[in-house]
Amino acid sequence: MTYGRRSSRISGFYKKPMEERVGLVAGYAGLTPEEVELLGSGGGLSLEAAERMIENVLGTMAYPFAVAVNFRINDRDYLVPMVLEEPSVVAAASNMARLMRGGEGIRATTTDPVMIGQIQVLDVPDMEKAKRAITEANTRLLSLANQQDPVLVKVGGGARDLVLRVVESEAGPMLVVHLLVDCRDTMGANAVDTMCEELAPLIEELTGGRVLLRIISNLADKRLARAETVVRKEALGGEPMVDDIVAAWAFADADPYRAATHNKGIMNGVVAVALATAQDHRALEAGAHAYAARSGRYLPLTRWSKNEHGDLVGVLEMPMAVGIVGGATRTHPMAQLALKVLGVSTARELAEVMVAVGLAQNLGALRALVQEGIQHGHMRLHARNLVIMAGAEGDLVDKAVEALIDSGEIRFDKAQEIVRRLKG
Ligand code: MEV
Repeated sequence: MTYGRRSSRISGFYKKPMEERVGLVAGYAGLTPEEVELLGSGGGLSLEAAERMIENVLGTMAYPFAVAVNFRINDRDYLVPMVLEEPSVVAAASNMARLMRGGEGIRATTTDPVMIGQIQVLDVPDMEKAKRAITEANTRLLSLANQQDPVLVKVGGGARDLVLRVVESEAGPMLVVHLLVDCRDTMGANAVDTMCEELAPLIEELTGGRVLLRIISNLADKRLARAETVVRKEALGGEPMVDDIVAAWAFADADPYRAATHNKGIMNGVVAVALATAQDHRALEAGAHAYAARSGRYLPLTRWSKNEHGDLVGVLEMPMAVGIVGGATRTHPMAQLALKVLGVSTARELAEVMVAVGLAQNLGALRALVQEGIQHGHMRLHARNLVIMAGAEGDLVDKAVEALIDSGEIRFDKAQEIVRRLKG
């Protein structure tokens, strides 16, 4: 059966055998037989490719590669590849995506993909004079930066502007030059770092100071992604549920101990897509948490509120420095496959999907937390694994899972007993 690239709404996907799931996704995304084979290859990275990626390689290590279903973002359907080790995350994303598509869907937007490079200048004899000299040399500096990456310039990106800041520090005042670079479809670290390094001698000449660091900033607050949704109260089981979710959010808004966990839940989704598409997930984490603390207080990255109809309104805004060309995204065969399944054509579109997944993931966590608690979902998956290990197949799996959960003793011996009984 083929779905063609039409709807990501696939009911009961999780219940289908893996072979059928692979067939559905292959049909949806037009995967070749070689790509289907890659999915079953245990990680898809050859030792030779691993050896070229980092140093001192001994082998490779595989994680589960899954897809979240049901996502509809800006009126387009997406199957979203996710790589992670934690149960319940993919299920929660898929369930919340289903709720969200029942309302007004998810709207996602991004700013231009502008990254910031920082050049730290010490021992500046006269700050005002130095700032003036850099401002007057603005065009020269930007064109020198752009000479470092003609390909980026050709595709419409490149150095855009310089911002000057004087930062007071333990080491005295320093001039910090921000180079703003539109990175288009790349994450941009290489281009930005090269540009900053190449500008350093001229900046020293202009300022009379000494350049120390020349490096990208992971607080990518010029490269933001934003997702918004309205979830009908009926879809959540009524207005009291909306109120509880808002109260759960308010807890995070008021208390950094809770906000850290709240944001961790968002990153469960964001990082899982980042891993599947071989992004620099450490950069994403650093950017997210620094952005969460930008007011001087660590806050939740989402905001949940109730509208005049009693429906739930959610917004997530965060930096999203991702690329679809260059780096491991290009060299890891599984990342290429993940991008094909996603079907995104720009880095901005990928960022829009990722911020939407973050929003869905946060809603999934809050909904579970205000209701049955987070262990319930984990236990369900554990119970499922146990009954399958105990020999349950087909329709029997769900029946055995229910019986095992009802028994209150989620153990292998109990699973064996139940499966034996149900098989008659
Ligand atoms: C667990 O990985 C994530 C949660 O703790 C997030 C949250 O508490 O909001 C469930």
